[in-house]
Amino acid sequence: MRYFGNNIKLLVNNLVVNYTDQGADDAPVIIFIHGFPLNKTMWDKQLECLKEHYRVIAYDIRGHGDSEIGKDNFSIDIFVTDLLNLMDALKIERASLCGLSMGGYIALNAIENHPERFDALVLCDTNCIADPPLVKQKRLNTIESIRDFGLERYVDDSIVQLFAPESFTTHQETVSEVKEMILNTSEQSLSKTLLALSLRKSTCNKLPEITIPVLFIVGEEDKITPPKASELMHEKIKNSILHIISHAGHLSNMENPDEFNEQLKAFFATVYKEHDILQPDQSTSTFTHIRNSLNMLLAFISI
Ligand code: MLT
Repeated sequence: MRYFGNNIKLLVNNLVVNYTDQGADDAPVIIFIHGFPLNKTMWDKQLECLKEHYRVIAYDIRGHGDSEIGKDNFSIDIFVTDLLNLMDALKIERASLCGLSMGGYIALNAIENHPERFDALVLCDTNCIADPPLVKQKRLNTIESIRDFGLERYVDDSIVQLFAPESFTTHQETVSEVKEMILNTSEQSLSKTLLALSLRKSTCNKLPEITIPVLFIVGEEDKITPPKASELMHEKIKNSILHIISHAGHLSNMENPDEFNEQLKAFFATVYKEHDILQPDQSTSTFTHIRNSLNMLLAFISI
């Protein structure tokens, strides 16, 4: 039984995972993986745009949003296991992945280890390298600073890195939303994730082995994972596509959603060109409406 809607809770490997699942049953599946330290709501505008033609799923990584934190240490490997377990629980054999930054690290690791489960990959504002020693040390310092001075200072420091300067005037509401997402992440989760990020391995050598379609997207003013990083990855994957988003920093999908969504739509239209994409009037037949409403009601009752 599939549940439709927002904030669905599912027990996956003894951990409550919070996710959104929208779109038709038989449509190609696209799974969105958020960046750090955000949550699945960062993808709201992409889900809204693509749900007409695709089954779109966005989930909160453990310790983020409304997913439980669990007892284990965090690592990119454990995040990948969570992703695969979620796909298994939802009976999804194959999907495309769209990951931003940390979401991209997870997507790259997942493709490397389970290539047979994925159709295509969108890597946004991300990188394939492991943390150089200085960055590792900076993450450890940040863990101490959060412990000693609390979250507010961390939010102020990180928010200037996440956005292009112009977004602070043109996208004030988005900046506030992102601040809220960070403030709603527990200190424990921030520390566990910072440690996991500092220990992640490079995936650069494996890039030439990727044979599925890949789209790179990066904000022109991304300070954390600059366009140069995407260019280097793009050169290593044959036939991959690179698009640089104007008026955007690290959170390119939130800072310029129109340009970002155009790229996503064009890419997936090519990837799934053989799939019979339903026209809106067919995909929203009365039967589909009744079935969706019933499923949403059941999902609501089960929470
Ligand atoms: C993210 O957006 O996921 C983070 O900036 C990733 C990182 O710090 O490496």
